[in-house]
Amino acid sequence: MKGVVLAGGLGSRLYPLTKVTNKHLLPVYNEPMIYYPLRILVNAGIDEILIVTGGNNAGDFLRLLENGKDFGLKHINYAYQQGEGGIAAALSLAEHFADRDKIAVVLGDNIIEGNIKKAAEKFRTQKDGARILLKEVPDPQRFGVPVFDGKRIIRIEEKPEKPASHYAVIGIYMYDYRVFEFIQSLKPSQRGELEITDVNNFYIREGNMQWDVLEGWWSDAGTFESLQSAGQMVAKTGANKL
Ligand code: DAU
Repeated sequence: MKGVVLAGGLGSRLYPLTKVTNKHLLPVYNEPMIYYPLRILVNAGIDEILIVTGGNNAGDFLRLLENGKDFGLKHINYAYQQGEGGIAAALSLAEHFADRDKIAVVLGDNIIEGNIKKAAEKFRTQKDGARILLKEVPDPQRFGVPVFDGKRIIRIEEKPEKPASHYAVIGIYMYDYRVFEFIQSLKPSQRGELEITDVNNFYIREGNMQWDVLEGWWSDAGTFESLQSAGQMVAKTGANKL
């Protein structure tokens, strides 16, 4: 299985912090934000990794991460997303890299206390389809929210006003090669983006979506509040524990 970190977009919710630099280069406690999602993949035993970046200072990723030696990697692949076409648009740039292999995708602003080893192991033995991770949160309306029928997810709603459950679909997704076919048939959402939730709903409609609940805390870091609280949680307990 290969890994993809999505670190494109313009980080407009963090303006003016993102006026001259890329959101994923901002500090979360004592490290640049991009270190945390990158370590999620490395700790899951994935060593072929593509970083999709974009917006300001894309070249700084290369200067910061070099060939990935500090993460035990021999090599890192990079791609550049023009504009802010959405998470699925950024992922479409990974098609050539994936080369029909399974992929684990991590959003560049997602930070976790623990690791995804168990879920990744299950996905390695899953014949095909997709796998997502859920976390119970107090504010599900900020995220993709699963709608359940018993233990089966029947759809995911993106930032619903009235969430159907207390779970957020976190920004760690595992897909088979068909993800790129699904992305090609997407239409932009109301916010003008190709949504990862629409990709996930393709797999759900096919009955080919599995899920796990993440252990330990999870945070995004894309708003002032979540950037600050993510830093505090990292300071208190540390992140990416094995
Ligand atoms: O954090 C989990 C949530 O992430 C999910 O629950 C939602 O279903 C999912 O849509 C997403 O929601 P956000 O609105 O918080 O995503 P955001 O636009 O902040 O983008 C998150 C990361 O995705 C960002 O740090 C970099 C990457 N991205 C985003 C966009 C819009 C790209 O690489 N390119 C893009 O064009």
